[in-house]
Amino acid sequence: MRTIVFSTQPYDRRFLDEANAARPPAERFLIDYQEAALDARTAALAEGYEAVCVFVNDVVDETVLQALVKSGVRAVLLRCAGFNNVDPDAARRLGIAIARVPAYSPEAVAEHTLALILTLNRKTHRAFNRVREGNFRLEGLLGSTLHGKTAGVIGLGRIGLATARILRGFGCQVLGHDPVVPPGFVELGREVALDELLATADIVSLHCPLTEQTRHLIDARSLGLMKTGAMLVNTSRGALIDTGAVIEALKTRQLGALAIDVYEQEAELFFRDRSGEIIDDDVFQRLMTFPNVLVTGHQGFFTVEALREISETTLDNLACLRSGRPCPNAL
Ligand code: NAI
Repeated sequence: MRTIVFSTQPYDRRFLDEANAARPPAERFLIDYQEAALDARTAALAEGYEAVCVFVNDVVDETVLQALVKSGVRAVLLRCAGFNNVDPDAARRLGIAIARVPAYSPEAVAEHTLALILTLNRKTHRAFNRVREGNFRLEGLLGSTLHGKTAGVIGLGRIGLATARILRGFGCQVLGHDPVVPPGFVELGREVALDELLATADIVSLHCPLTEQTRHLIDARSLGLMKTGAMLVNTSRGALIDTGAVIEALKTRQLGALAIDVYEQEAELFFRDRSGEIIDDDVFQRLMTFPNVLVTGHQGFFTVEALREISETTLDNLACLRSGRPCPNAL
């Protein structure tokens, strides 16, 4: 199955090549790499390939799927867990199989979530800069002790549970909200309704997928319910948050701090070096002006272990689809 990888970064090529080389010679794949993201303009690059491999910001909507099917593509491999960028119904209609990597290292994202919480809370990002400049003043670096705080976890799947476990380890009271509460949560915290979680938590962390129901889950109404000065953390998908409403809540000091690893318009910004360019996303630039906002560029998944797992599972999915066996990770 000739495969073309879209949105390739050097690390994607390295880990996929390593995983491919580790397979028995007869089971290896012919893989080509493209830096371009997949969308309606670039779908023609898949001509002559039977499979395409994509990431979080590639567009796999009906138009793109139609173009892919015309090029002879039979499978789309997502090297990520979330699949909000895909139209699975259209894929089914067009006979294109889709498979993803549902769980590569929930702990990687959970640990990054905690890194964001701790950085923002203890202001280590600012301390780092100050000390390097020989400024040892503490004024402006006052944090609060995480132990004893109430943390609200929205979405109690693999990453939500891993986050809840770590928060418990820090001595936090954990509240959770999920339409389907997993049995494993009982020993970690208390399940509550969404509004109660928002009204009670000192830290609200989002771990649910982006769907039509969860789009702008955090909007002016939910921000209004949150405790004054609470921290909001999003390592899930950008559009869970109405960024405009969050900016207003930061300006009024209703929201005490914001940490995000994902951003609604991230496809225009993330995963490339734009340091020499003028960034014309005024919403993003406004976020950058707040001292109590911390943004990372969708790196929650970015550990050696997770990249290894993603590459191996992606190639296993491809092997499954090539052989016509049912693929456990198919959408
Ligand atoms: P999962 O599928 O194991 O868990 C998602 C949970 O959210 C499920 O328990 C589901 O019932 C729950 N949920 C669905 N609708 C909800 C709602 N309206 N309110 C509350 N909970 C709801 O997914 P997993 O592996 O835990 O990943 C969660 C999300 O994290 C993914 O959808 C993806 O968007 C994001 N992610 C981010 C990464 C990063 O690098 N920042 C890497 C991997 C995933």
